[in-house]
Amino acid sequence: MLETSNLAKTTGSRSKVVEPPTDDKRWRLVIATMRRHGYAQSALIETLHTVQSCFGYLDEAGMLFVARSLKVSPSKVYGVATFYSLFRLKPQGKHTCVICLGTACYIKGAAKLLDAVESTCGLKVGETTADNQISLLEARCLGACGIAPAAILDGQVCGKLEAAELKEKLEKWHLNL
Ligand code: FES
Repeated sequence: MLETSNLAKTTGSRSKVVEPPTDDKRWRLVIATMRRHGYAQSALIETLHTVQSCFGYLDEAGMLFVARSLKVSPSKVYGVATFYSLFRLKPQGKHTCVICLGTACYIKGAAKLLDAVESTCGLKVGETTADNQISLLEARCLGACGIAPAAILDGQVCGKLEAAELKEKLEKWHLNL
């Protein structure tokens, strides 16, 4: 559970720029989502959705970052994260495959990528293989429409992804290569 007492100290800052928890490039996508919504508090769910899409789940550091950036209380962020069943607070499989189902990616063949995952691992969106090796998640837009169809494979944004390429990756994951 979030330590709301500690977090309260960190939300009082008037600084406009809130540093992300790490220098992981995926935070840029989270920041882009908040920026697109003008850092409005109403963007909370959308932003948490982006965090989960990028990282596979919501951890305390991520929720804290969102709280500070949108200037909402950590307890509210935690409340939203636990209220909606689509949010996960724990990591899922060892490997995470996030397929973008936004308009640009869908037009460019995201459905074929979903089919590739299903035929290779038997997974549908939101599921994890029985051996906890691979989780499949979806995203609405990764901010990488120019390289659609896009996906995030273990944290790495992959553009112009082809079904055969994705299958190969999944098979390697399955075999622990
Ligand atoms: S719609 Fe997929 S990256 Fe924008």
